[in-house]
Amino acid sequence: MSFPHRLLPLAFLTLLGCQSPKIEPAAPVALRDLSRDLFHLGVAINAEQITGDDRIGADIVATQFDSITAENAMKWQHLQPAPGRFEFALADRFVALGRREGKQVIGHTLMWHSQTPAWVFQNTDGSEVSREELLRRLREHIRTVVGRYKGQIAGWDVVNEAIRDEDGTLRTDKPWYRILGEEGIFAAFAAAHEADPEAELYYNDYSLENPAKRAGVLKLVQAIRARGLHIDGIGSQGHYLLKSPTAAEIDTSITDLASTGLKVMFTELDVTVLPRPDHYLGAEIGKVFAQAPELDPYRDGLPADRQAELARRYAEIFAVFAKHHRSITRVTVWGVTDRTSWLNGWPIRGRTDYPVLFDRAGAPKPAFESVRDTLRRARDDR
Ligand code: XIL
Repeated sequence: MSFPHRLLPLAFLTLLGCQSPKIEPAAPVALRDLSRDLFHLGVAINAEQITGDDRIGADIVATQFDSITAENAMKWQHLQPAPGRFEFALADRFVALGRREGKQVIGHTLMWHSQTPAWVFQNTDGSEVSREELLRRLREHIRTVVGRYKGQIAGWDVVNEAIRDEDGTLRTDKPWYRILGEEGIFAAFAAAHEADPEAELYYNDYSLENPAKRAGVLKLVQAIRARGLHIDGIGSQGHYLLKSPTAAEIDTSITDLASTGLKVMFTELDVTVLPRPDHYLGAEIGKVFAQAPELDPYRDGLPADRQAELARRYAEIFAVFAKHHRSITRVTVWGVTDRTSWLNGWPIRGRTDYPVLFDRAGAPKPAFESVRDTLRRARDDR
Protein backbone atom coordinates (compact mmCIF):
# COMPACT_ATOMS: atom_id res chain seq x y z
CA MET A 1 0.00 0.00 0.00
CA SER A 2 1.35 3.45 -0.76
CA PHE A 3 0.05 6.81 0.41
CA PRO A 4 0.72 10.28 -0.96
CA HIS A 5 2.91 12.11 1.61
CA ARG A 6 0.24 14.50 2.81
CA LEU A 7 -1.96 11.53 3.74
CA LEU A 8 0.71 9.74 5.76
CA PRO A 9 -0.37 11.06 9.18
CA LEU A 10 -3.93 10.11 8.36
CA ALA A 11 -2.86 6.63 7.36
CA PHE A 12 -1.09 6.25 10.69
CA LEU A 13 -4.10 7.35 12.67
CA THR A 14 -6.29 4.98 10.71
CA LEU A 15 -3.91 2.11 11.38
CA LEU A 16 -3.99 2.97 15.08
CA GLY A 17 -7.77 2.82 14.98
CA CYS A 18 -8.20 6.57 15.54
CA GLN A 19 -10.78 7.56 12.92
CA SER A 20 -10.87 11.30 12.45
CA PRO A 21 -14.50 12.43 12.57
CA LYS A 22 -13.79 15.00 9.85
CA ILE A 23 -12.88 12.44 7.22
CA GLU A 24 -15.73 11.70 4.81
CA PRO A 25 -15.78 8.51 2.77
CA ALA A 26 -14.06 9.06 -0.59
CA ALA A 27 -16.36 10.82 -3.08
CA PRO A 28 -17.49 8.52 -5.89
CA VAL A 29 -15.40 8.81 -9.01
CA ALA A 30 -17.31 6.50 -11.35
CA LEU A 31 -19.22 8.57 -13.87
CA ARG A 32 -22.24 6.30 -13.57
CA ASP A 33 -22.49 7.08 -9.85
CA LEU A 34 -22.34 10.81 -10.47
CA SER A 35 -24.96 10.70 -13.22
CA ARG A 36 -27.31 8.33 -11.38
CA ASP A 37 -29.89 10.96 -10.45
CA LEU A 38 -29.63 12.74 -13.82
CA PHE A 39 -29.72 10.14 -16.61
CA HIS A 40 -28.27 6.76 -17.57
CA LEU A 41 -24.67 7.01 -18.70
CA GLY A 42 -23.92 4.53 -21.44
CA VAL A 43 -21.19 3.45 -23.83
CA ALA A 44 -21.05 1.65 -27.16
CA ILE A 45 -18.98 -1.53 -27.02
CA ASN A 46 -17.27 -3.51 -29.77
CA ALA A 47 -16.71 -7.26 -30.18
CA GLU A 48 -13.47 -7.37 -28.13
CA GLN A 49 -15.10 -5.51 -25.26
CA ILE A 50 -18.08 -7.88 -25.35
CA THR A 51 -15.85 -10.96 -25.22
CA GLY A 52 -13.38 -9.42 -22.77
CA ASP A 53 -10.42 -9.84 -25.16
CA ASP A 54 -9.97 -6.09 -24.69
CA ARG A 55 -9.61 -6.40 -20.91
CA ILE A 56 -8.81 -2.73 -20.34
CA GLY A 57 -11.83 -1.63 -22.35
CA ALA A 58 -14.11 -4.17 -20.67
CA ASP A 59 -13.01 -2.98 -17.21
CA ILE A 60 -13.78 0.64 -18.09
CA VAL A 61 -17.23 -0.41 -19.29
CA ALA A 62 -17.81 -2.41 -16.10
CA THR A 63 -16.84 0.39 -13.72
CA GLN A 64 -17.81 3.66 -15.41
CA PHE A 65 -21.08 3.12 -17.28
CA ASP A 66 -24.54 1.77 -16.42
CA SER A 67 -25.88 1.28 -19.94
CA ILE A 68 -24.44 -0.47 -23.01
CA THR A 69 -25.14 -0.35 -26.74
CA ALA A 70 -23.63 -2.83 -29.21
CA GLU A 71 -21.53 -0.79 -31.61
CA ASN A 72 -22.09 -3.32 -34.42
CA ALA A 73 -23.16 -6.72 -33.05
CA MET A 74 -26.91 -6.17 -33.48
CA LYS A 75 -26.86 -4.67 -36.96
CA TRP A 76 -28.62 -6.63 -39.70
CA GLN A 77 -25.43 -7.72 -41.47
CA HIS A 78 -24.24 -9.41 -38.28
CA LEU A 79 -27.56 -10.89 -37.13
CA GLN A 80 -28.86 -12.14 -40.49
CA PRO A 81 -25.97 -12.17 -42.98
CA ALA A 82 -27.83 -14.49 -45.39
CA PRO A 83 -31.57 -15.10 -45.91
CA GLY A 84 -32.97 -16.90 -42.89
CA ARG A 85 -29.48 -17.52 -41.43
CA PHE A 86 -29.48 -15.83 -38.05
CA GLU A 87 -26.22 -15.58 -36.11
CA PHE A 88 -26.77 -14.63 -32.52
CA ALA A 89 -23.56 -15.75 -30.81
CA LEU A 90 -22.01 -12.29 -30.24
CA ALA A 91 -25.32 -10.52 -29.62
CA ASP A 92 -26.18 -13.18 -27.03
CA ARG A 93 -22.89 -12.51 -25.24
CA PHE A 94 -23.57 -8.77 -25.36
CA VAL A 95 -26.97 -9.18 -23.74
CA ALA A 96 -25.60 -11.66 -21.18
CA LEU A 97 -22.83 -9.22 -20.26
CA GLY A 98 -25.37 -6.47 -19.66
CA ARG A 99 -27.48 -8.69 -17.46
CA ARG A 100 -24.46 -10.01 -15.54
CA GLU A 101 -23.27 -6.48 -14.80
CA GLY A 102 -26.77 -5.17 -14.12
CA LYS A 103 -26.71 -2.64 -16.94
CA GLN A 104 -29.41 -1.14 -19.05
CA VAL A 105 -29.08 -2.91 -22.45
CA ILE A 106 -29.87 -0.98 -25.64
CA GLY A 107 -30.58 -2.63 -29.00
CA HIS A 108 -29.06 -0.90 -32.05
CA THR A 109 -30.55 -1.04 -34.71
CA LEU A 110 -33.40 -2.75 -36.59
CA MET A 111 -33.82 -0.70 -39.77
CA TRP A 112 -30.95 1.28 -41.31
CA HIS A 113 -29.65 1.96 -44.82
CA SER A 114 -26.11 0.94 -43.81
CA GLN A 115 -24.73 -2.43 -42.68
CA THR A 116 -27.74 -4.17 -44.20
CA PRO A 117 -26.75 -6.88 -46.70
CA ALA A 118 -27.63 -6.40 -50.38
CA TRP A 119 -29.67 -9.62 -50.45
CA VAL A 120 -32.37 -7.96 -48.33
CA PHE A 121 -33.41 -5.80 -51.30
CA GLN A 122 -32.95 -8.41 -54.05
CA ASN A 123 -34.60 -11.50 -55.47
CA THR A 124 -32.37 -14.51 -56.09
CA ASP A 125 -31.98 -13.43 -59.75
CA GLY A 126 -30.64 -10.05 -58.59
CA SER A 127 -33.76 -8.04 -59.52
CA GLU A 128 -35.29 -5.68 -56.98
CA VAL A 129 -37.54 -7.27 -54.41
CA SER A 130 -41.25 -6.44 -54.35
CA ARG A 131 -42.77 -4.21 -51.73
CA GLU A 132 -44.68 -7.12 -50.18
CA GLU A 133 -41.60 -9.31 -49.96
CA LEU A 134 -39.48 -6.53 -48.44
CA LEU A 135 -42.14 -5.84 -45.82
CA ARG A 136 -42.23 -9.56 -45.06
CA ARG A 137 -38.43 -9.67 -44.62
CA LEU A 138 -38.43 -6.58 -42.42
CA ARG A 139 -41.17 -7.95 -40.17
CA GLU A 140 -39.59 -11.38 -39.95
CA HIS A 141 -36.20 -9.92 -39.02
CA ILE A 142 -37.68 -7.71 -36.33
CA ARG A 143 -39.95 -10.42 -34.95
CA THR A 144 -37.03 -12.86 -34.72
CA VAL A 145 -34.49 -10.45 -33.22
CA VAL A 146 -36.72 -8.52 -30.82
CA GLY A 147 -38.55 -11.72 -29.88
CA ARG A 148 -35.29 -13.47 -28.99
CA TYR A 149 -34.33 -10.77 -26.49
CA LYS A 150 -37.83 -10.08 -25.21
CA GLY A 151 -37.66 -8.76 -21.66
CA GLN A 152 -33.88 -8.24 -21.83
CA ILE A 153 -33.54 -5.11 -23.94
CA ALA A 154 -34.59 -1.85 -22.31
CA GLY A 155 -34.97 0.01 -25.59
CA TRP A 156 -34.50 -0.44 -29.33
CA ASP A 157 -33.29 2.03 -31.93
CA VAL A 158 -36.02 0.78 -34.25
CA VAL A 159 -35.27 3.07 -37.18
CA ASN A 160 -31.91 4.77 -37.73
CA GLU A 161 -31.26 7.76 -40.01
CA ALA A 162 -34.30 7.76 -42.30
CA ILE A 163 -34.25 11.54 -42.84
CA ARG A 164 -32.08 13.62 -45.20
CA ASP A 165 -29.72 16.23 -43.80
CA GLU A 166 -30.44 18.96 -46.32
CA ASP A 167 -34.20 19.32 -46.22
CA GLY A 168 -35.61 16.91 -43.66
CA THR A 169 -37.33 14.73 -46.26
CA LEU A 170 -37.39 10.94 -46.31
CA ARG A 171 -34.28 9.29 -47.79
CA THR A 172 -36.05 7.92 -50.84
CA ASP A 173 -32.67 7.34 -52.50
CA LYS A 174 -32.17 4.39 -50.10
CA PRO A 175 -33.91 1.10 -50.95
CA TRP A 176 -35.85 0.89 -47.67
CA TYR A 177 -37.64 4.14 -48.35
CA ARG A 178 -37.67 4.05 -52.17
CA ILE A 179 -39.53 0.75 -52.02
CA LEU A 180 -41.57 1.14 -48.84
CA GLY A 181 -41.85 4.88 -48.19
CA GLU A 182 -42.94 5.83 -44.66
CA GLU A 183 -44.98 2.63 -44.47
CA GLY A 184 -41.78 0.69 -43.87
CA ILE A 185 -41.07 2.77 -40.78
CA PHE A 186 -44.59 2.23 -39.48
CA ALA A 187 -44.26 -1.51 -40.09
CA ALA A 188 -40.95 -1.58 -38.19
CA PHE A 189 -42.39 0.15 -35.11
CA ALA A 190 -45.48 -2.06 -35.18
CA ALA A 191 -43.46 -5.28 -35.45
CA ALA A 192 -41.05 -4.28 -32.68
CA HIS A 193 -43.87 -3.43 -30.29
CA GLU A 194 -45.67 -6.66 -31.05
CA ALA A 195 -42.52 -8.70 -30.42
CA ASP A 196 -41.72 -7.04 -27.07
CA PRO A 197 -44.49 -4.79 -25.75
CA GLU A 198 -42.37 -3.81 -22.71
CA ALA A 199 -39.34 -2.56 -24.64
CA GLU A 200 -38.98 1.15 -25.28
CA LEU A 201 -38.86 2.09 -28.95
CA TYR A 202 -36.84 4.95 -30.41
CA TYR A 203 -36.26 6.85 -33.63
CA ASN A 204 -32.52 7.67 -33.88
CA ASP A 205 -30.70 10.20 -36.09
CA TYR A 206 -27.83 12.71 -36.28
CA SER A 207 -27.57 16.47 -36.94
CA LEU A 208 -30.79 17.16 -35.06
CA GLU A 209 -29.30 20.54 -34.15
CA ASN A 210 -29.88 21.48 -37.79
CA PRO A 211 -33.41 22.98 -37.72
CA ALA A 212 -34.41 21.66 -41.16
CA LYS A 213 -33.42 18.12 -40.32
CA ARG A 214 -34.99 18.30 -36.86
CA ALA A 215 -38.27 19.50 -38.37
CA GLY A 216 -38.25 16.49 -40.71
CA VAL A 217 -37.63 14.12 -37.80
CA LEU A 218 -40.38 15.72 -35.71
CA LYS A 219 -42.78 15.41 -38.63
CA LEU A 220 -41.93 11.73 -39.01
CA VAL A 221 -42.37 11.13 -35.29
CA GLN A 222 -45.78 12.84 -35.43
CA ALA A 223 -46.76 10.57 -38.32
CA ILE A 224 -45.72 7.51 -36.31
CA ARG A 225 -47.86 8.65 -33.41
CA ALA A 226 -50.77 9.65 -35.65
CA ARG A 227 -50.86 6.02 -36.78
CA GLY A 228 -51.42 5.03 -33.17
CA LEU A 229 -48.03 3.33 -33.07
CA HIS A 230 -45.89 2.98 -29.96
CA ILE A 231 -42.80 5.21 -29.72
CA ASP A 232 -41.04 6.24 -26.50
CA GLY A 233 -38.17 8.45 -27.46
CA ILE A 234 -35.99 10.28 -29.93
CA GLY A 235 -32.30 9.47 -30.04
CA SER A 236 -30.05 12.37 -30.97
CA GLN A 237 -26.74 10.79 -31.95
CA GLY A 238 -24.43 13.66 -30.98
CA HIS A 239 -21.46 13.14 -33.29
CA TYR A 240 -20.00 16.56 -32.64
CA LEU A 241 -17.05 18.73 -33.65
CA LEU A 242 -15.09 21.04 -31.34
CA LYS A 243 -17.03 24.11 -32.39
CA SER A 244 -20.15 22.75 -33.99
CA PRO A 245 -22.95 22.57 -33.12
CA THR A 246 -22.83 25.33 -30.50
CA ALA A 247 -24.05 24.72 -26.95
CA ALA A 248 -26.97 27.05 -27.71
CA GLU A 249 -27.94 24.93 -30.74
CA ILE A 250 -27.80 21.74 -28.67
CA ASP A 251 -29.89 23.43 -25.99
CA THR A 252 -32.55 24.55 -28.49
CA SER A 253 -32.66 21.12 -30.08
CA ILE A 254 -33.29 19.40 -26.73
CA THR A 255 -36.08 21.85 -25.86
CA ASP A 256 -37.70 21.21 -29.24
CA LEU A 257 -37.41 17.43 -29.09
CA ALA A 258 -38.65 17.34 -25.50
CA SER A 259 -41.71 19.43 -26.43
CA THR A 260 -43.11 16.27 -28.06
CA GLY A 261 -43.39 14.74 -24.59
CA LEU A 262 -41.16 11.89 -25.76
CA LYS A 263 -37.96 10.92 -23.98
CA VAL A 264 -34.80 12.46 -25.38
CA MET A 265 -31.48 10.64 -25.37
CA PHE A 266 -28.00 11.26 -26.67
CA THR A 267 -27.16 7.93 -28.17
CA GLU A 268 -23.74 8.21 -29.86
CA LEU A 269 -21.81 11.07 -28.30
CA ASP A 270 -18.26 11.82 -29.43
CA VAL A 271 -16.27 14.93 -30.36
CA THR A 272 -13.80 14.79 -33.23
CA VAL A 273 -10.74 17.03 -32.92
CA LEU A 274 -9.76 16.50 -36.57
CA PRO A 275 -10.44 18.78 -39.52
CA ARG A 276 -13.39 18.00 -41.79
CA PRO A 277 -13.09 18.58 -45.53
CA ASP A 278 -15.85 20.54 -47.30
CA HIS A 279 -17.16 21.88 -43.98
CA TYR A 280 -19.05 18.60 -43.59
CA LEU A 281 -20.76 18.54 -40.19
CA GLY A 282 -22.97 15.44 -40.40
CA ALA A 283 -22.38 11.75 -39.68
CA GLU A 284 -23.50 10.08 -42.91
CA ILE A 285 -21.60 6.81 -42.92
CA GLY A 286 -21.48 6.70 -46.73
CA LYS A 287 -19.60 10.00 -46.88
CA VAL A 288 -15.86 9.41 -47.31
CA PHE A 289 -13.01 11.73 -48.22
CA ALA A 290 -9.50 11.07 -49.50
CA GLN A 291 -6.57 10.92 -47.07
CA ALA A 292 -4.22 13.91 -46.86
CA PRO A 293 -1.47 14.52 -44.26
CA GLU A 294 -2.81 17.96 -43.33
CA LEU A 295 -6.12 16.32 -42.41
CA ASP A 296 -4.38 14.05 -39.88
CA PRO A 297 -2.36 16.51 -37.77
CA TYR A 298 -2.13 14.67 -34.42
CA ARG A 299 -0.60 11.33 -35.34
CA ASP A 300 2.06 11.74 -32.65
CA GLY A 301 -0.21 12.95 -29.89
CA LEU A 302 -2.70 15.67 -29.06
CA PRO A 303 -1.10 18.98 -28.02
CA ALA A 304 -2.01 20.16 -24.51
CA ASP A 305 -4.01 23.16 -25.71
CA ARG A 306 -6.16 20.93 -27.93
CA GLN A 307 -6.60 18.47 -25.07
CA ALA A 308 -7.81 21.32 -22.87
CA GLU A 309 -10.12 22.58 -25.61
CA LEU A 310 -11.67 19.11 -25.89
CA ALA A 311 -12.15 18.98 -22.12
CA ARG A 312 -13.87 22.37 -22.15
CA ARG A 313 -16.09 21.23 -25.00
CA TYR A 314 -17.17 18.11 -23.08
CA ALA A 315 -17.89 20.23 -20.00
CA GLU A 316 -20.01 22.61 -22.07
CA ILE A 317 -21.98 19.75 -23.65
CA PHE A 318 -22.61 17.97 -20.34
CA ALA A 319 -23.67 21.23 -18.70
CA VAL A 320 -26.44 21.50 -21.32
CA PHE A 321 -27.40 17.85 -20.78
CA ALA A 322 -27.51 18.36 -17.01
CA LYS A 323 -29.71 21.43 -17.43
CA HIS A 324 -32.20 19.26 -19.35
CA HIS A 325 -31.90 16.18 -17.15
CA ARG A 326 -35.67 15.99 -16.71
CA SER A 327 -36.09 15.36 -20.44
CA ILE A 328 -32.93 13.37 -21.09
CA THR A 329 -33.06 9.73 -20.02
CA ARG A 330 -29.66 8.57 -21.29
CA VAL A 331 -26.34 9.82 -22.61
CA THR A 332 -24.23 7.18 -24.41
CA VAL A 333 -20.62 7.78 -25.48
CA TRP A 334 -19.82 6.14 -28.85
CA GLY A 335 -16.70 4.21 -27.99
CA VAL A 336 -14.71 3.24 -24.90
CA THR A 337 -11.21 4.50 -25.75
CA ASP A 338 -9.69 6.71 -28.44
CA ARG A 339 -8.03 3.60 -29.85
CA THR A 340 -11.34 1.90 -30.62
CA SER A 341 -13.31 4.94 -31.84
CA TRP A 342 -14.88 4.67 -35.31
CA LEU A 343 -13.68 8.24 -35.98
CA ASN A 344 -10.15 6.92 -36.63
CA GLY A 345 -11.67 5.45 -39.80
CA TRP A 346 -14.46 7.85 -40.79
CA PRO A 347 -14.91 10.04 -42.81
CA ILE A 348 -11.27 9.47 -43.77
CA ARG A 349 -9.56 6.13 -43.24
CA GLY A 350 -6.50 5.66 -41.07
CA ARG A 351 -6.42 8.88 -39.03
CA THR A 352 -5.63 9.38 -35.36
CA ASP A 353 -8.55 10.99 -33.53
CA TYR A 354 -9.19 11.67 -29.83
CA PRO A 355 -12.98 11.79 -29.53
CA VAL A 356 -13.93 9.99 -26.29
CA LEU A 357 -13.15 10.04 -22.56
CA PHE A 358 -10.33 7.47 -22.23
CA ASP A 359 -7.02 7.58 -24.09
CA ARG A 360 -5.46 4.87 -26.20
CA ALA A 361 -4.02 3.13 -23.14
CA GLY A 362 -7.34 3.31 -21.30
CA ALA A 363 -6.39 6.17 -18.95
CA PRO A 364 -8.98 8.87 -18.17
CA LYS A 365 -8.37 12.05 -20.19
CA PRO A 366 -8.87 15.67 -19.14
CA ALA A 367 -12.23 15.33 -20.95
CA PHE A 368 -13.15 12.57 -18.47
CA GLU A 369 -12.27 14.86 -15.59
CA SER A 370 -14.34 17.71 -16.96
CA VAL A 371 -17.35 15.43 -17.46
CA ARG A 372 -16.86 14.08 -13.93
CA ASP A 373 -16.69 17.59 -12.46
CA THR A 374 -19.69 18.80 -14.47
CA LEU A 375 -21.79 15.83 -13.36
CA ARG A 376 -20.68 16.28 -9.77
CA ARG A 377 -21.65 19.96 -9.78
CA ALA A 378 -25.00 19.17 -11.37
CA ARG A 379 -25.67 16.49 -8.76
CA ASP A 380 -24.71 18.75 -5.87
CA ASP A 381 -26.85 21.63 -7.23
CA ARG A 382 -29.98 19.52 -7.32
C1 XIL B 1 -20.41 2.80 -36.79
C2 XIL B 1 -19.48 1.91 -35.96
O1 XIL B 1 -18.98 2.67 -34.91
C3 XIL B 1 -18.37 1.38 -36.83
O2 XIL B 1 -17.59 0.44 -36.11
C4 XIL B 1 -18.93 0.72 -38.08
O3 XIL B 1 -17.87 0.34 -38.94
C5 XIL B 1 -19.87 1.65 -38.82
O4 XIL B 1 -20.88 2.12 -37.94
N1 XIL B 1 -24.21 6.21 -36.80
C6 XIL B 1 -24.69 5.03 -36.24
C7 XIL B 1 -23.74 3.99 -35.82
O5 XIL B 1 -25.90 4.92 -36.00
O6 XIL B 1 -24.27 2.68 -35.95
C8 XIL B 1 -22.43 4.09 -36.56
O7 XIL B 1 -21.52 3.15 -36.00
C9 XIL B 1 -21.87 5.49 -36.51
C10 XIL B 1 -22.84 6.46 -37.13
